[in-house]
Amino acid sequence: MTQPAFDALLVENVHPDADSALTQYGPVAIRRVAGSPSPEALRSEIARAQVLGIRSRTQVDTALLDAAPDLLAVGCFCIGTNQVDLSAAAARGVPVFNAPFANTRSVAELTMASVIMLMRRVPEKMSAIERGEWLKTAEGCNEVRKKKLGIVGYGNIGAQLSVIASALGMHVYFYDIDPKLAHGNARPMESLDALISECDVVTVHVPSTARTRNLMNAERIQAMKPGSFLINQARGDLVDVDALAAALRSGHLAGAAVDVFPVEPKSKDERFESPLIGCPNVILTPHIGGSTLEAQAAIGMDAATKLARFLFEGATSQAVNFPEVDPGPLQPGRIRILAPHLNRPGYLRKLNNMAEDAGANVAAQFLQTEGELGYAVADLEGDLPGDFLDRIHAIDGTIRARMIEAR
Ligand code: NAI
Repeated sequence: MTQPAFDALLVENVHPDADSALTQYGPVAIRRVAGSPSPEALRSEIARAQVLGIRSRTQVDTALLDAAPDLLAVGCFCIGTNQVDLSAAAARGVPVFNAPFANTRSVAELTMASVIMLMRRVPEKMSAIERGEWLKTAEGCNEVRKKKLGIVGYGNIGAQLSVIASALGMHVYFYDIDPKLAHGNARPMESLDALISECDVVTVHVPSTARTRNLMNAERIQAMKPGSFLINQARGDLVDVDALAAALRSGHLAGAAVDVFPVEPKSKDERFESPLIGCPNVILTPHIGGSTLEAQAAIGMDAATKLARFLFEGATSQAVNFPEVDPGPLQPGRIRILAPHLNRPGYLRKLNNMAEDAGANVAAQFLQTEGELGYAVADLEGDLPGDFLDRIHAIDGTIRARMIEAR
């Protein structure tokens, strides 16, 4: 039996590369709605959708989920997932996927470019030339080669930056709360304070958490080397911007590049305000660290591939609200049962009993639980009765049940 095409609704101009990724394992009929539709328009479009692909503007709340009885999965073609009511989706057996690392390289490149521009005092010279002043001087301008770059947070972006900076001949130091394998000759530091007092440039690449909020406070900024540079292209609340502005104006710091701010305009109609405006030798950018066409394409591929693997294999790897199961491709002759359920003792036993009663052999089985939610996947062999899915639905605790047949 050939499986009918899944119905996928993509809104907010998801990158076109998503189409080939979404259809790589089997038929998916893709409908696109340009821009961000109103909640009313979306509710009517979503009624028959099995997949919803959004970016950051579309709100997926309980009202929308209730209007989508056939919805199997949501793909956020972006980094964040705050726009989706994740627990409401999980409670309906709907995994939510995103693409958290697809823009890593874009951020690392902007950071590296910022290091070079700051050390050459380009922002200062650009402001001067726009005023008609010809600041042709080498005073305070340096190559980055052999300078010390201090990376705070050696995760995806920090590690990528480490490789690029090393290739340019910088001496790379890093500090991370978790043990990390150093790339090339990068040197781990035992504390943030040790890194700050050592390096010519400090760049933060940590998430915003209770522990990292105000990480670069007035005291730490003051403890940085005189004439050094601070870069924040991670999250706006990591750095005390008033203290940074004061350190730039006093000349303690020689420059800063900031892409993220404690308060950011929600749209282009809102005005941007910051104590950093007008400070000497600063690069201020409107949260564009990850905003490149390459990152958009990578996000399209990444999120769509996760959706396709869920549709055709039942894989929930890297879902943000769901127990992670990766059962791999279905072998010929088998039927895969997917059953998100309430995490209660005995569910798997009941599922197996159901298979045995139907005369089926359980050829492979996978189970993962997380909080209230369980996700069971069973590969069965044998002729299943026509009402087998209804029987699974009838098991106490089943949230929904779906069947995949080998292609
Ligand atoms: P990641 O999760 O791969 O790496 C973060 C690293 O920080 C981890 O190695 C973690 O152990 C470390 N860390 C956490 N708390 C720490 C602490 N208190 N001290 C030292 N290290 C600590 O994250 P990724 O993808 O590298 O992103 C880093 C930051 O960049 C995040 O804040 C992310 O939101 C931001 N970002 C900004 C973008 C922009 O447009 N400007 C785009 C993409 C990411």
